Amino acid sequence: MTRWFDNLHPGLRRFWHPVATIRELDGDGPHPIRLLGDDYALARLDSGWTVLPAACPHRLAPLNAGAVDGNCIRCAYHGWSFDADGQCVDIPAIGDGATIPPTAHLEPAAEVAERYGLVWVALDEPLAAIPEVPEWDMDRFGRSDVPTQSWNASAAQMADNFLDVAHFPFTHIGTIGDPADTTVGYYEVERDGWSFSAVHHHSSKVLADAASGATDFETFDRTMSFRCDAPHHVRLQIEYGTAGVLVLMFLHQPVDADTTRLFSLILAENIADGRMTAQQHLDFQLEVGREDRELLEQLVVKAVPIDPGIETHTRSDRITVELRRVLADVAALTEEEA
Ligand code: FES
Ligand SMILES: [Fe+2]
Repeated sequence: MTRWFDNLHPGLRRFWHPVATIRELDGDGPHPIRLLGDDYALARLDSGWTVLPAACPHRLAPLNAGAVDGNCIRCAYHGWSFDADGQCVDIPAIGDGATIPPTAHLEPAAEVAERYGLVWVALDEPLAAIPEVPEWDMDRFGRSDVPTQSWNASAAQMADNFLDVAHFPFTHIGTIGDPADTTVGYYEVERDGWSFSAVHHHSSKVLADAASGATDFETFDRTMSFRCDAPHHVRLQIEYGTAGVLVLMFLHQPVDADTTRLFSLILAENIADGRMTAQQHLDFQLEVGREDRELLEQLVVKAVPIDPGIETHTRSDRITVELRRVLADVAALTEEEA
C-alpha cells in the first residue's frame, strides 16, 4: 500500500495548528473553524479560549449560531449551555435540578493558545511545542501584517515548497530567482526531535531589482537558514548582509483534504530601521508566494508521499527528504497507537 500524508492524517491531531488571526475574529464568538476536515466552534469564554465540535449533541445545530454566555457557549436552538470542557451544564426545557444526559457532552480540543497574534489549537495532547519566533518580541524587528490565504494544496505540500532550495531560478524567475544559480551547493540537514534545520547559501536578485521586474539586475549572495517544526511549520531566516535579517514564518492550518490556510509572519530589521516599509515587504512576499501557489495548485494529488519509492530524490533535496521522514514518523506514531 502506498502511503501519502495529507491534510486529514489523524497524526495531525497531536500537533498545534493556527486556526485564526486575533484581528479577524469579531467578538468572543463562537467562531466557525474547520480543521482536519471537521467543523468546530472557537470561543473566548470568561475562563479563556475553548474549541468544541460544532454540532450540538441535542439536534446537531451548529454551535456557531449560538452565543458566548460567561463561561459557556449557549446553543441558539434550545438554549443548551456547554462549558469550556464541553460539558452541558444547562438544559432549559427540563428545568433546574433535572438530570443532564451523560451524552450531552462535546469532546473539547486538548489545548488552545494565543501566540503571535494567532489562535492555535491542538485537538489531542500535543507532542511538540508551538514554533518559536523570538524576533516577535525584539524591538529591532518590524512586522508586516500579512493577510491569511487559502491555497488549494495540502499543508505538507506547502511546507515542502517553502523548504525547497532548488526551485528559485525556475519558479521564481520573475522575482528573486537568479537564472545563473541553478546548482545547489552541499548543505547538511540536522534533525532534532520533531524539528530539523539546514543552512543554504545561494545567489538572489537584489530586492529592488526583483520588485521592479528589471531585466538588467544585480545579484548577491544570501544565507538562508531553514527550520521546520512538525508537522509542517516552516521558519526561514534570510541574512541580507548590511540590509539586515528577514524572518518569514509559514504556518499552516490543514482545513480539509484540498484546502490549507496559510498564516505568514514577516519580521524584518529594515522595517524597524525605516529602510523598507512593511507594505513593500508585504507586496514583495505576496508576489513570491503567488509564483509558488500557481505551481503548487497544479499538483493533482493533494498529499506528499511518505514511501521513498514514489518520487525521485537527489542530493539537492536533502531538506525536503527530511520533511518526508518527519511526516513518516508522525504517521508511524499514529499507526502504533491504532
Ligand atoms: S440543538 Fe442545540 S440545544 Fe437543541
Ligand atoms: Fe518558492
